[in-house]
Amino acid sequence: MLLIKNSILADPASGTTRRADVLIAEGRILKIAENLPSGTASPEVLTEMPAGAGSVSPAGLAESRENAGSREPVVLDGSGCVLAPGLIDTHVHFRDPGYTEKEDIETGARAAKRGGFTTVVMMANTNPVIDAPELVRANLEKGKATGIHVLQAAAVTRGMRGKELSDLEALAAAGAACFTDDGLPITDEKLLFEALREAAKLGLPVSLHEEDPAFIASQGVNAGPMAEALGLGGASALAEEVLVARDVLLAANAGASLVIQHISSGLSVKLLRAAKSFGIENIHAEATPHHFSLTEAAVLSHGTFARMNPPLRTEADRLEIIRGLADGTIDLIATDHAPHTTAEKNRPFGKAPSGIIGLETSLALGVTNLVRPGHLPLLELLRKMTVNPARLLGLPEPRIEAGAPADLVLFAPDETFVAGSYASKAENSPFTGETLFAPVKATICGGKIVYKA
Ligand code: DOR
Repeated sequence: MLLIKNSILADPASGTTRRADVLIAEGRILKIAENLPSGTASPEVLTEMPAGAGSVSPAGLAESRENAGSREPVVLDGSGCVLAPGLIDTHVHFRDPGYTEKEDIETGARAAKRGGFTTVVMMANTNPVIDAPELVRANLEKGKATGIHVLQAAAVTRGMRGKELSDLEALAAAGAACFTDDGLPITDEKLLFEALREAAKLGLPVSLHEEDPAFIASQGVNAGPMAEALGLGGASALAEEVLVARDVLLAANAGASLVIQHISSGLSVKLLRAAKSFGIENIHAEATPHHFSLTEAAVLSHGTFARMNPPLRTEADRLEIIRGLADGTIDLIATDHAPHTTAEKNRPFGKAPSGIIGLETSLALGVTNLVRPGHLPLLELLRKMTVNPARLLGLPEPRIEAGAPADLVLFAPDETFVAGSYASKAENSPFTGETLFAPVKATICGGKIVYKA
């Protein structure tokens, strides 16, 4: 049994907060009340079962009662902390199989737990690419050993080559959470349309990396003065915008659930807003912490640690992404956690791989750069990191209430910490050394403490 005392419970599903204690048993929230006695899982507490807590089995209840006399619950002091549903990230790279020198499922999950995440979706750009049911199953199996929910995305096209569709039905049957060729765009619109129709039938979302190579001279830096300063051509915003416009129309026509991944251009945000105003539903977008926190200028101060696809863009783009988060156009915050080795990131800018790690700074960047400046209420930030991704993926709605699964994060919104010394295998973050708000104090998954500061 676990008792979390004195925290503020933030429940984004109901839009409410309140101060209370939370008693957890058998992987679920058993009771929420003020001043639960820390001395016990007392028989009185256990018999006062609230409606909704009925999912704790009679056997488990009996066992808890037995333990009540002999074993005290583990107590976490949540003073000064917020207790929220465990965070869900729709977009992480754990590099397994094929690139485990960068990260593996165990170390990736460790980074996730440290960042407050209890559910993550791994991308398919591994080696081999996750385009076959046995590969989906193997990774889901590995994920089970981590103590959190590790889900797997499957590739839309075989080998992510963009030429022929994977067997989407078989991938769905194997447990794929969604379909994506993340890392690469799908330039063949007829093939993509077919994929969207098939995914719609299967009831799974399609997540797209929107960068048309026709408008990219070099990846990882915005086309313009910063790219020029590096002696590179850069990646234009048009490369993203042209595919966003195309794919909103394709998805609407196919009746599919579409996710625009790691949105980077202000005009892309406006296109999505307009599409929604035309009544096009089921279009979603991810904003990464780096795209709402940094601009292209970071390539000068942080070099390859500010190299990512799509690239960081202008202050006007960053502000439009924040507006999109605030007005609901952008419904998801996702890290695109993209670990690379130090040796790879030490290459010259033009030759280094794109991407940065993000799981261990995501919540902090959201609180520091969105909540504290007043762009987004905390509950709304949490909604984009819990309830909205759960809905997208068809997972049960995360809730802080009796009977709900005890997947939780405890964090201190008013405390600061210095980002660094990561649980990830990698350390490619431009935020290292920055003082941020909201350190994670504990992550609880299935009622177990899987991370404690
Ligand atoms: O910067 C990126 N890195 N963007 C992506 O879409 C892929 C990722 C990676 O796999 O490293």
